[in-house]
Amino acid sequence: MAKIAYKVLMSAEKGASWGAAVDHDLSQPLTDQIAAELVALYERYHLLLFRNQTFSAEQQVAFSKLFGPISHRSPAMKVKETALVSNVAPDGVLGDGELLFHSDNTFFQHPLKAIGLYAMEIPSVGGDTLFANAHLVYDSLPDEVKRKLPGLSSLQTFDYGGDYNKRSTLEAVPPDAPVAQHPLLWTNPSTGRIALFLSEHTTVRINGLGKDEEDALIALLRRHIEDPRFCYRHKWTVGDFVFWDNVCLQHARETFDRKQARTLRRTPVLDAEGDRRFPESLDLTRKAA
Ligand code: OGA
Ligand code: MN
Repeated sequence: MAKIAYKVLMSAEKGASWGAAVDHDLSQPLTDQIAAELVALYERYHLLLFRNQTFSAEQQVAFSKLFGPISHRSPAMKVKETALVSNVAPDGVLGDGELLFHSDNTFFQHPLKAIGLYAMEIPSVGGDTLFANAHLVYDSLPDEVKRKLPGLSSLQTFDYGGDYNKRSTLEAVPPDAPVAQHPLLWTNPSTGRIALFLSEHTTVRINGLGKDEEDALIALLRRHIEDPRFCYRHKWTVGDFVFWDNVCLQHARETFDRKQARTLRRTPVLDAEGDRRFPESLDLTRKAA
């Protein structure tokens, strides 16, 4: 049977492969052969873009489940298989405004494995989603910074009702908010490559560093994460479906005119191999006394 056709989206730096535009209609049944080809493309490129899709929520869920179970950890997903990232839907999440670079769910011992977004309503300007390749970000760091990072870990927490662009503090989140500790460097067990793993707005502290040293390191790492050389900018068109690796790639959103509707159907995917892929990460959620 013919292989699925695809185009590599960009290769800005040597060895960079942040994504593939895949020529495939996801409203068609997912045969074992097609599923295996799509999973192999995801593992190689970390991000798959499918344009001009008209597929149901059930079909988006079925595709997403090729990679792991759907996550029901966030309040918006308690009883649902999909959520809407939306500034107009009554039950929409992450409505509008800028989102700094991040990986999702770093405040859990096992972050999300992957995320799918299907564009349903898109503003005429703004609201692009940016994807930074965290392997390339690590590779680009100066040697003296690289020498500092092994052994460092960050403490991560989050308040779903809080400010998405301000550093989190343990004092400002509810006492039962999830808290996790992760090494700053993550090794991809399937490739052996190292990625920088640090989401600024959920970072309470970097363990063992004084405040000034911590602020300086976070600012330096942020400059590398935001470097356009390691970054793919996705300008959405209605019908686009983007599915990406939440750890190999960090993502960010640019702001847009909040009077225009922006709605994307979202499938968050859990990491079924979390213990193997995050062997040194800890759940430090405070337990009720
Ligand atoms: C997300 C997210 C970015 C966007 O769904 O986790 O960060 O572009 N969305 O809306
Ligand atoms: Mn996100």
